[in-house]
Amino acid sequence: MYFGVDYHPEHWVYPYDGTPEAPESRWERDVELMVQAGVNVVRMGEFAWGCYEPEEGKYDFGWMRRVMDLFTKAEIKVVLGTPTAAPPLWLAKKHPEILPIDARGLKRHEGTRRAYCMNSNVYWDYCQRIVRELAGALGNHPQLIAWQIDNGLGGHDTEASFNEETRRDWHAWLKAKYDTIDRLNELMGTRFWSQGVTDWDQVPMPMAAPTVHNPALLIDWMRFCSDTIVAFARMQRDLLRELTPNLPVTQNLRALTRLFDHFDMAEVMDFVSVDSNATIKTKSAELACEIDMMRSLKKTNIRMPDGDCGFWVIEQKAGNVNWQEVNSLLRPQVVRLFTYQLVSRGACGVLYFLWRQPRIGSEKFYGGVLTHTGRGDNRVYQEIKEIGQELKQLGRVLKGTRIAAESCILTSHDNDWNLKFVNQPNKYFNQREHVQLFYNALHDRNIPVDFARPTEDLSKYKLVIAPSLQLLAGGEADLLKLYVQNGGTLVATFNTGLVDEHHIAPDTGFPHDLTDLFGLEVLEFDPLPPGEENHLTIKGAFAATHLHPAKLWCDAIEPKGCQVLASYAKDFYAGRPAMTMNSFGQGRAIYIGTMSHQFFYYDLIVWLRQMCNLFPLLKVPDTVEVSMREKENTRIYFLLNHQNSPVRISFFKPMHDFLTGKTFTGNYDLPPHGVLVLDEQTAQV
Ligand code: GLA
Repeated sequence: MYFGVDYHPEHWVYPYDGTPEAPESRWERDVELMVQAGVNVVRMGEFAWGCYEPEEGKYDFGWMRRVMDLFTKAEIKVVLGTPTAAPPLWLAKKHPEILPIDARGLKRHEGTRRAYCMNSNVYWDYCQRIVRELAGALGNHPQLIAWQIDNGLGGHDTEASFNEETRRDWHAWLKAKYDTIDRLNELMGTRFWSQGVTDWDQVPMPMAAPTVHNPALLIDWMRFCSDTIVAFARMQRDLLRELTPNLPVTQNLRALTRLFDHFDMAEVMDFVSVDSNATIKTKSAELACEIDMMRSLKKTNIRMPDGDCGFWVIEQKAGNVNWQEVNSLLRPQVVRLFTYQLVSRGACGVLYFLWRQPRIGSEKFYGGVLTHTGRGDNRVYQEIKEIGQELKQLGRVLKGTRIAAESCILTSHDNDWNLKFVNQPNKYFNQREHVQLFYNALHDRNIPVDFARPTEDLSKYKLVIAPSLQLLAGGEADLLKLYVQNGGTLVATFNTGLVDEHHIAPDTGFPHDLTDLFGLEVLEFDPLPPGEENHLTIKGAFAATHLHPAKLWCDAIEPKGCQVLASYAKDFYAGRPAMTMNSFGQGRAIYIGTMSHQFFYYDLIVWLRQMCNLFPLLKVPDTVEVSMREKENTRIYFLLNHQNSPVRISFFKPMHDFLTGKTFTGNYDLPPHGVLVLDEQTAQV
């Protein structure tokens, strides 16, 4: 188990610490404090380009080697960032063409970070040069165990740039995709609003315009920008593989907020690392959902420093952040709880951002492990130290364990981007919230969930949920049919299959290519404004504990062989099916034509759980989050209390907790924000 911090040694030299005689002397104290906290890894250097190369071609990696040497003595491993997220000012001055142009045609200037266009050949050259120099200077250091590429790719809305070089790459990308102009015109539907082109050069980039761009062009633009970012990362990965073949490569991703295909990116990386926003959210199921999404990005070909098989949290907030309106402190023990939530869902490395609150720069009020004083007598340092001691013991037990899920929620970046386009049937529909309704129902019943893209092999899942895949490629629809044909249970919903991969609406009825799978056709759909509701009249096998509303969207369904499970209670489509089930091959395809409240999804999961033989991990009070990591003959359960009050758990057999080493029997009050880590051989709740 890796446990560590994000360290910026370049901030901690004289005059910010150290002395004129020994300007780097603070580093030794930092290493001491890290050792005491149980730190065994640090990430460094992700913004250090200007310190490595203060003037073009004049390199200085000596200072970083001196820091790394200190870590050798302390047996602390190192991950180095390639510093390309923060190009030095001399580079922007010499080559202003690397600066990104925004959708209005305005330059985004130098002076912060991420001020570069990823289509710039000049920038690629400079990146290759610094990465080569860095790997040459430090790549053989014995403490180095992995590289992080760049930092926060796509952050600060830098996924797209509108430079001339971008235009050049865009046209080349389109040419590779469509081959002929005629094909582009046909598949992009450029007859609409007179947008036909006769030459590749005429295809616009979707810059600020009087009204909305062609969604077929927009979706390609999103794909192109994503491919650009992934190519930029791949360029660095290939170089690092050539120069230091034994060192795995990772990158700090954020929970799907950035506009590139994270699955594609995860393929490029040897292992996935994430930045966790845990401190600012309140709902544990939302955090759990994001963690499961990130864990699911890379399921195979994982190559980690210690041969483990999960993911890292390379930036876990240690305290408050600095970018909310009010940046409140994290309450005592909450960092510990969040850390365990990440570990319980598969993390095998946790590094806190950042080691010490910087005295300089724009993040000086960002909560660190140490405060500005650097003394180490602060509350957060003490808490991190305790976690460090615990994880040291737990690491041995957790090594090689993974999360095993038999249910899965589908997610597709193409679809997510498309759902954000304007001119949606209902602008109040929010896919993230829709996914969360299903996720909550599984999470709150302690049923593990993976996420997958529709093109993955789904055969290992007993249950697959596909919420609102409005943009669904023909090939994806075929794979869903195959999954059900072979015995799977698929749940899909309204707002599915309205357009294909070219953003063309079907003339064969909704959902396109899937009407046979579901045994129905959606004749029309009725988006409802917030506050307006229809109701479900339940029929057949599905048992309802509440009166379930139909909100935001009602599909008017014509059944064509399916079984009707619920219908609408009112309006002109009263009596029409709202929820159906169809046998297809050896499996079942369930269709939910509307959105409801959370209780509906609880009922749904109770029903599906029995139908699909899905078992909850443990039966505990609803407010306790449970997850499990397993390997042959070992099952480790994590019980987390996200509440501010204790929760009573009854143990019917003696039970062993790894954290305290104690054995519990009878009633146990899990304290506020408390955590238990139990093993199955002795633990029965
Ligand atoms: C990201 C970056 C860090 C820092 C934090 C602030 O995670 O990687 O450098 O700026 O955001 O939240």
